[in-house]
Amino acid sequence: MDNSYVSRRLALFPSMTRIEMTQDGNHLAIAGCDLAELADRFGTPLYLYDRATLDAAVEDYRQALACSYPERTGITYAGKAFLCLAMAQWLRGKDLWVDCTGAGEIHVAVAGGVRRERILVHGVNKSQADLDAAVAHAGTIVVDNLVELERLATRAQGKALPELWLRIRPGLAVDTHTFRQTGQADSKFGMSQAEALEAVRLCRQKGLPLTGVHFHQGSHFHDPAPIDPALEVVLDLIAAAQQETGWLPETICPGGGWGVAYHEDELPHPPVRDYVDFIAGHLANGCQKRGLPLPRLQLEPGRSLVAQAGVSLYRVGAIKHTPNRRWLMLDGGMTDNIRPALYGARYSALPVREPGRPAAGPAWLAGPYCESSDVLIEALPMPEVQPGELIAVPVSGAYHLSMGNNYNGARRPAVVWLDEGQARLVQERETLDDLIRRDRRL
Ligand code: LLP
Repeated sequence: MDNSYVSRRLALFPSMTRIEMTQDGNHLAIAGCDLAELADRFGTPLYLYDRATLDAAVEDYRQALACSYPERTGITYAGKAFLCLAMAQWLRGKDLWVDCTGAGEIHVAVAGGVRRERILVHGVNKSQADLDAAVAHAGTIVVDNLVELERLATRAQGKALPELWLRIRPGLAVDTHTFRQTGQADSKFGMSQAEALEAVRLCRQKGLPLTGVHFHQGSHFHDPAPIDPALEVVLDLIAAAQQETGWLPETICPGGGWGVAYHEDELPHPPVRDYVDFIAGHLANGCQKRGLPLPRLQLEPGRSLVAQAGVSLYRVGAIKHTPNRRWLMLDGGMTDNIRPALYGARYSALPVREPGRPAAGPAWLAGPYCESSDVLIEALPMPEVQPGELIAVPVSGAYHLSMGNNYNGARRPAVVWLDEGQARLVQERETLDDLIRRDRRL
């Protein structure tokens, strides 16, 4: 049977993924590390992050920005996609900004050595603790609403605040799953144009350090077209604010959200370059049309920086046959990757041993949890697989572990950092004791 899907599936994995000869036959290897050895050494389910793939994704964005926008630019990594100490250290090394949602992510970024000027804080309903942490550690706060702005104004009296940006709700979302749309008129995120204008007035009156505007229309889209009308809305607002108050933003951030390919059917994915060119071109035109100076352009990607660098590794336990399905039962599922259950996300996979084997028909790859929705992959052509084999799922780097949970007493997986043949444990697997660490007896 056909195995032509194998090379297309391999293209979803980190760029340094190879099929390498071992004493046990051919195995999948990333950055020179045999995945079967990693599974033996660190256990499964296991998450791997390939440093070279992370580096290449940043480089793609940097080059695209340098080629397409003549003014200053910057990249903020959306920490919600995946954050841990090692990631924070890597982000610091790359001199990226880090978008932190609230006090928790700020804590991780600071512990990983990210400097104040590089920490930007988001949050749709920031708590007092979130605002405290933001004022203590961040260079920029993206203000979501007028109540938050009033709170910040109150605490500003006599004290310096981080720079403030306004989050605008442009009334236009991108094309993606409705759970991931944020820019539409009825979204819970950000301010209307009228509220944003009010916010500019308030900042001017109170002398608050307002330096930017932000909008984010949603996540995992493949067509940048809806960004243009949103930019128009935001630039109109800026022009109105300038006319009334004289204020101009130093920075405009159109958020993140550029999608990735999760499945071989989605290859080739339009390149980051197309997305960045689109934004840069429309921003420059829009400013020129209104006689506005070009602002600094800051992008805020999460998924497109980390998704492809991540691979999840599972071991097959039981294999079942039901009237119409072949089930490969994995040792992880919706507790480490809730995306299929939540959004119907489609994934692909390869066996680690002899990944080039021809397909023997479709397989359903399910997790061990007590939910019928705990199915990671449906109807994927797969070879005959034996109990005990390892399965590698590519494009696992974004919104898996950061949305992980302990359902059914699951312990969150370990994370291993792959770097030029070296494999380092950067996040330990949760233990049984971790499950009762916060508990107190009656
Ligand atoms: N900026 C803001 C303000 C955001 O809310 C987000 C994502 C991003 C940037 C980064 O978006 P990205 O480039 O990663 O698409 N759990 C969902 C995604 C939720 C995204 C939330 N906000 C998923 O697994 O598809």
